[in-house]
Amino acid sequence: MSPPATISAVKGFRDVLPDEAGRWRVLEDAAERVFSRYGFEEVRPPVVERTELFARSLGDTTDVVEKEMYSFVDRDGTSLTLRPEATASVVRAYIEAGLAQREPAARLYYRGPMFRRERPQRGRYRQFHQIGAEIFGRDDALADAELLVMLTRYLAAVGARETRLEVNSVGDARCRPVYRERLRDFGKRELAALCPDCHRRLDRNPLRILDCKVEGCRAVVARAPVMLDSLCDACRAHLDEVRALLAQEAVPYTMNARLVRGLDYYCRTAFEVVAAGLGAQNAVGGGGRYDGLVAALGGPDVPGLGFALGLERLAIVAPAEAAAPGPHAVVLPLEARAVGPAFALATRLRDEGLAIGLEPAGRSLKALLRAADRRRARLAVIVGEEELRVGRATVRDLARHEDRPQALPLDAAAPELAQQMRTLLGSGS
Ligand code: HAM
Repeated sequence: MSPPATISAVKGFRDVLPDEAGRWRVLEDAAERVFSRYGFEEVRPPVVERTELFARSLGDTTDVVEKEMYSFVDRDGTSLTLRPEATASVVRAYIEAGLAQREPAARLYYRGPMFRRERPQRGRYRQFHQIGAEIFGRDDALADAELLVMLTRYLAAVGARETRLEVNSVGDARCRPVYRERLRDFGKRELAALCPDCHRRLDRNPLRILDCKVEGCRAVVARAPVMLDSLCDACRAHLDEVRALLAQEAVPYTMNARLVRGLDYYCRTAFEVVAAGLGAQNAVGGGGRYDGLVAALGGPDVPGLGFALGLERLAIVAPAEAAAPGPHAVVLPLEARAVGPAFALATRLRDEGLAIGLEPAGRSLKALLRAADRRRARLAVIVGEEELRVGRATVRDLARHEDRPQALPLDAAAPELAQQMRTLLGSGS
């Protein structure tokens, strides 16, 4: 009989193996540390939402809603979607939990998987992970500046290399409609050079031609009028104030009048963090203001703003940490009789907070030491015939290749054992 066929992961879905997961943990811990200084608290919304939530908030002419959502009909007939992003979910939670009344100026951050059915390539997956932060209840430029300072401080804290912050204003409900018409007129004049999708976009939502990926369209769009030149006085004043506050804190950024975001809920400040080393998928993160979104989802008229960073991409641009450290020690029973005492030793040391490996018996000392080495352990704790006889384990320093015979009493109480182990490991362990 032939062996059963292997089953591979689904295209665009990948395993985050221990090395990478270790690096993600560093990125996540830094987010918690930095974001909490700015008053953010964690929120964990579910990964499944009603499809309507995204259709209504992201814009039904966006690529995400038009062709990238994982939607399915649940058994009761409800259309559900694996979240393609979390801002809409956080806004829903903010409204549903009554935060809009109880804590209108809530600051919430989150991390977790998002799902978009894009064409997979380096840095672009169908399940990817974001760390994001959202501020509610603030329409002043200070909130934008604070968010951007926090973002740059976070990127510095994780050592993200060669990233650049690009900023733009995409106007508001007053000035954007005027710009939309200017852009539509421009597009109609350039119709012959635009793709069929953009023809449709010109009718339904001309702003979408700005992020069309087709080469010919990009050439046309490069000559298109920009929102920045059509801002109303209030949007212009807001942008000026954000820029003045960023200048005050010496935050490096470039204005990019052609920056557009792929989601429709933005107004005024929009920004992206782009990285040199990422190739085509060069955005590590992005965000901006979404002042009408809470109201559009049925909540009170509360402004909001935020950003999200892609963990997969961040892990590429933030230098790898040194390889994860191995256990403090590995316990090696040399024979069957030593298994019980070795297990007891390992359990007591683990109970005291030490990271302890434990090998099965039945191999030579040499083979066991090799196994301990492979695990990058600092010490090997050997329990063999002689050790059982005297009631004390031998400890070998694997870095220095030194034995300390009779170093650990096999029957000592856990705290004493751990104390002796820590002495053997040297200070700082
Ligand atoms: P977004 O620009 O769609 O914004 O996504 C933010 C980041 O998620 C991107 O810059 C990228 O690093 C990562 N990302 C997006 N799609 C993929 C993918 N297929 N594979 C790998 N990484 C990806 C948002 O999602 C907004 N919710 C951000 C926001 C928060 N705006 C306001 N608040």
